[in-house]
Amino acid sequence: MTFIFWALLAYVLGSIPFGLVIAKSACGIDPRKDGSRNTGATNVARLCGMKYGIATLACDLLKGLLPVVFAASWLESPFALSLVALAAILGHVFSCFMGFKGGKAVATTVGAFLGLAFWPALICIVLCLLMVWLTGHVSMGSLTFALSLPVLMLLSGNFAFIPVAVVVMLVLFWRHRENIRRLARGEENPWLKKG
Ligand code: G3P
Repeated sequence: MTFIFWALLAYVLGSIPFGLVIAKSACGIDPRKDGSRNTGATNVARLCGMKYGIATLACDLLKGLLPVVFAASWLESPFALSLVALAAILGHVFSCFMGFKGGKAVATTVGAFLGLAFWPALICIVLCLLMVWLTGHVSMGSLTFALSLPVLMLLSGNFAFIPVAVVVMLVLFWRHRENIRRLARGEENPWLKKG
């Protein structure tokens, strides 16, 4: 019962489309119709400016982090806690406030895994930032983050989190399929410019 409560709460919180709300109220743009057509921080920064991108990043990250941090006091099973994290991430991807459509869930995954396993998640973030710096593409950083999650959960001994890390990796790759095609063609949207 407690698990269902936290999973539902995480899903509903994860469903809140902060990027859409911020972009519409800050610059009157629907990010689903411009740039990469994603509601995430990268596209909001691209369309409305860096400070709104950072605000979106912070809100999307918190909606992954907070349910995990609070549920951790109630749920004994680490696997159950990882399912709460997954619920928040799936909320972002299949938002009940956007007709079960949504974003790519990178920031929400970052928040959720910081709550699950702080130091391993931090290493994944560093690898992500390194890849963005090397390639100039946020999507390359996101894909690196997705790939490194299950590896870091394994290396850090967080075995209970590996199944969800693998599922999330697959979800993030699936959500980035257009980015992967653009990267392969050398046509990925540049950072902070309209695509
Ligand atoms: O987190 C999303 C990022 O990986 C790609 O964003 O807008 O360039 O598709 P975007």
